[in-house]
Amino acid sequence: MVAQVIDGKAFAATVRGQVADHVARLKEEHGITPGLAVVLVGEDPASQVYVRSKGKQTVEVGMNSYEHKLDADTSEAELLALIDKLNNDPAVHGILVQLPLPKHLNEDLVINAIDPAKDVDGFHISNVGLLGTGQKSMVPCTPLGCLMMLRDHHGSLSGMDAVVIGRSNIVGKPMAQLLLGDSCTVTIAHSRTRNLPEVVRRADIVVAAVGRPEMVQGDWIKEGATVIDVGINRIERDGKKVLVGDVHYESAAAVAGAITPVPGGVGPMTIACLLANTLTACCRSHG
Ligand code: GUN
Repeated sequence: MVAQVIDGKAFAATVRGQVADHVARLKEEHGITPGLAVVLVGEDPASQVYVRSKGKQTVEVGMNSYEHKLDADTSEAELLALIDKLNNDPAVHGILVQLPLPKHLNEDLVINAIDPAKDVDGFHISNVGLLGTGQKSMVPCTPLGCLMMLRDHHGSLSGMDAVVIGRSNIVGKPMAQLLLGDSCTVTIAHSRTRNLPEVVRRADIVVAAVGRPEMVQGDWIKEGATVIDVGINRIERDGKKVLVGDVHYESAAAVAGAITPVPGGVGPMTIACLLANTLTACCRSHG
């Protein structure tokens, strides 16, 4: 079997187009422009790239982008004061604090200071609780993008065996909740899982989010399974810097039914979902 390639880049462009249409209607009919504030503390190079990309795409769909770049030695009190200001700013509908934060800042404290209604990352403890209990919440962008691609490919996911590799708060855990919400039988595997290849071989759906380059091999994959690769790993190969996922693409694509490439799979969907979440937050704030 040669896997169908799930084109996240094209899908993300469609989602952004839908968001842009909705934003244009909001402006025309109600005079409202959604606004997203992105906060970056320090100079982590990967974070700088993400933040630039988020700002650019926010403007491209017609929303207002507010970028706040703070020094690496910003105090917790200063950061909390900024979040408080953004919470109370009616022009700001979504707030994103780019992670990871410098070590001296308490990430949980900072994230939980964001107004849950403006928490477009879906990381606030009350959004985590709402998602876990099947209530309306803000849903983390990367798992939401994965779910959208899976629903688009399969229609219903009901009754399917899903294995999520990785247990992070950003991807693994919310991904498992979303798949459970769509009536999958869900296994969360991780670095300590015994017989990981065997566990993965049971899956109709594999979501790889471990952050280890090309860890998941083709002979771990059940014939015809759908493979969603969340990994973005920069490695050096033959003297060149290349981007690879958590899945060994060539060997997995030879047995899978469908697979997301890296780059061009999950990555573009994450920002598209961030824009969709900002639009949702804006619409909810105006009833
Ligand atoms: N760092 C890596 N991924 C993310 C994300 O989805 N949101 C935020 N805020 N920071 C991140």
